[in-house]
Amino acid sequence: MPPPEKLFVYEIAGRVNPPPELTAQDFLGCWREGSCSYLFFSTPREAEVKAWLKANPGLGTFLSVTDLNYSDWEAGQALKPTRVAGFYLCPVWEEPQPEPGDITLHLEPGLAFGSGYHPTTRLCLSLLRHVFQEGTPCRVLDLGTGTGVLSLAALALGARQVIAVEYNDLAVHTAARNIRHNARQQDIFQIHGDARDFAYIPAELVLANIHLDVLLDLLNIPEFFNKKWYIFSGILGTQRGRFLAALQSTSLETMSVLDENMWYAILAGKRR
Ligand SMILES: C[S@@+](CC[C@H](N)C(=O)[O-])C[C@H]1O[C@@H](n2cnc3c(N)ncnc32)[C@H](O)[C@@H]1O
Repeated sequence: MPPPEKLFVYEIAGRVNPPPELTAQDFLGCWREGSCSYLFFSTPREAEVKAWLKANPGLGTFLSVTDLNYSDWEAGQALKPTRVAGFYLCPVWEEPQPEPGDITLHLEPGLAFGSGYHPTTRLCLSLLRHVFQEGTPCRVLDLGTGTGVLSLAALALGARQVIAVEYNDLAVHTAARNIRHNARQQDIFQIHGDARDFAYIPAELVLANIHLDVLLDLLNIPEFFNKKWYIFSGILGTQRGRFLAALQSTSLETMSVLDENMWYAILAGKRR
């Protein structure tokens, strides 16, 4: 299904679960962040949301409404097929037209991160290629999976199993849909939770395209250092020095650094 044209977002103080009468066809999902919840709809629902909160005192307080064009959510990008590192990322509503040698991934980005346009994702896909030229990681841990794009890419390159961790409800549902679009239900195990709590899971390769404070926390978890390859992304140019210094104080060594548009991604491995 193509994405909706408009998004209506209702901010509520409180962590809420919308009732069935609000989660009909135009309901896109609920995003909980800290002590607030954000309900996403493709049609205006302000009156219904307010009525529900009024009828259930103590549940939450209506804070604000934002309506925007879906294209603004995607930073003005029209979602069209895109190519990177031999992957052909095709929105599910487009007819795929791969070229010889392309690896096609079918994606419905919804409201989650990982449409394939952002440099942090693209750098990871390039580094993934690099890793699979050196060997074939059998099990992959994808921390902050978003749409699931990197998990799907790792499987397409030959990984046998991926564990995909994500804490955002909307992204978890989006990734589940994308896993189905690519018929990978048998190969990806989804965990709805905080990446830091699952950093210990054994794998040959870990993918972490996630913001800097989480990356730095990961480097402070001793059980994290049981993998062979590490791909870190989501690092701005201004943060690169800080991250590399933190990395240097671990048992890992930097194997490759790629950058695009002020974003950096790093491939690291066990120090030899
Ligand atoms: C930059 S996006 C990367 C998405 C996808 N892996 C990609 O490369 O395009 C980061 C993702 O990590 C999730 N995330 C951020 N902090 C997290 C945490 N502490 N635990 C689990 N997921 C987290 C976000 O919700 C988001 O989906």
